Amino acid sequence: MLASKPMNQLRKLLLSSRRVSSSSIIPPSILLHQRLFSTSDTDASAASLPSSHQKIQTLEGKTSNKSRSTSSTTSLNEDELAKFSAIADTWWHSEGPFKPLHLLNPTRLAFIRSTLCRHFSKDPSSARPFEGLRFIDVGCGGGLLSEPLARMGATVTGVDAVDKNVKIARLHADMDPVTSTIEYQCTTAEKLVDEGRTFDAVLALEVIEHVANPAEFCKSLSALSIPNGATLVSTINRSMRAYASAIVAAEYILRWLPKGTHQWSSFLTPEEVSMILRRASVDVKEMAGFVFNPITGRWLLSDDISVNYIAYGTKTSDLGDI
Ligand SMILES: C[S@@+](CC[C@H](N)C(=O)[O-])C[C@H]1O[C@@H](n2cnc3c(N)ncnc32)[C@H](O)[C@@H]1O
Repeated sequence: MLASKPMNQLRKLLLSSRRVSSSSIIPPSILLHQRLFSTSDTDASAASLPSSHQKIQTLEGKTSNKSRSTSSTTSLNEDELAKFSAIADTWWHSEGPFKPLHLLNPTRLAFIRSTLCRHFSKDPSSARPFEGLRFIDVGCGGGLLSEPLARMGATVTGVDAVDKNVKIARLHADMDPVTSTIEYQCTTAEKLVDEGRTFDAVLALEVIEHVANPAEFCKSLSALSIPNGATLVSTINRSMRAYASAIVAAEYILRWLPKGTHQWSSFLTPEEVSMILRRASVDVKEMAGFVFNPITGRWLLSDDISVNYIAYGTKTSDLGDI
């Protein structure tokens, strides 16, 4: 009987702890693990989304909403897609919300050109070194990357989950006979995997921080690659410097990007990207940082991967062992 008072207190404590929301008692490292590796993007926040965010045009122009797009391997995060849909007509405005990507393009293309020429034993001084190679640009947006890749000779497929993005990309690419060869589709990496498509190089630049499940997304990227194919992923590090520059400076001070474009908790460290790619049978061979020089207004390739960075890896084997 003497023990019953502490037992009652313990029971009370346990009962009251059940009323606390799970996110407030789960350590952040476990929440991050769930974000990286969970197989579903069903999350309670769907119920509290503003109605304009609940319905957007995604795959093949069909209307979807977050609660319905819950296939066990979907990479779709409808909140994120709504942000891109809202500004889709500004993809090619060099002073608009995609200004940072316009400025970054020559620098990231220099890295892509040099790693892929080495990977495929192509001449980097050639005007069209990627002739005869099939590349996929996953999350292609308005085609800022797809177009120069096509100009470098690659046979490019660009896919994006937002129908408006693909339409803008198509319109822009059709203005030049060289880029009009690009195949644009409103679809996802996982759907193309289901269709059995494969490519020599798989590129997903500035996309992984916007998807519902980075680990599943990387598995799809890997499955799209031929054996020993190349994979390139770029994103933003989950560092304090990235918080200060990619969110505070870019969104609130310089107003380059609409506020709320990036969620710091969705950023991945280089170690995390390497790990989830390795688990998806992609061996990361090289990483480089992109550093912005505010005086020249240019991005430079750098060893500093504390904010923006790109990873290049090769497909080691099929997904069977995962
Ligand atoms: C920051 S933009 C990057 C665009 C392009 N990769 C570039 O770097 O110029 C991210 C793009 O990814 C697309 N996206 C987000 N989640 C996606 C998913 N699960 N599947 C395909 N596209 C996705 C968005 O619609 C958006 O166009």
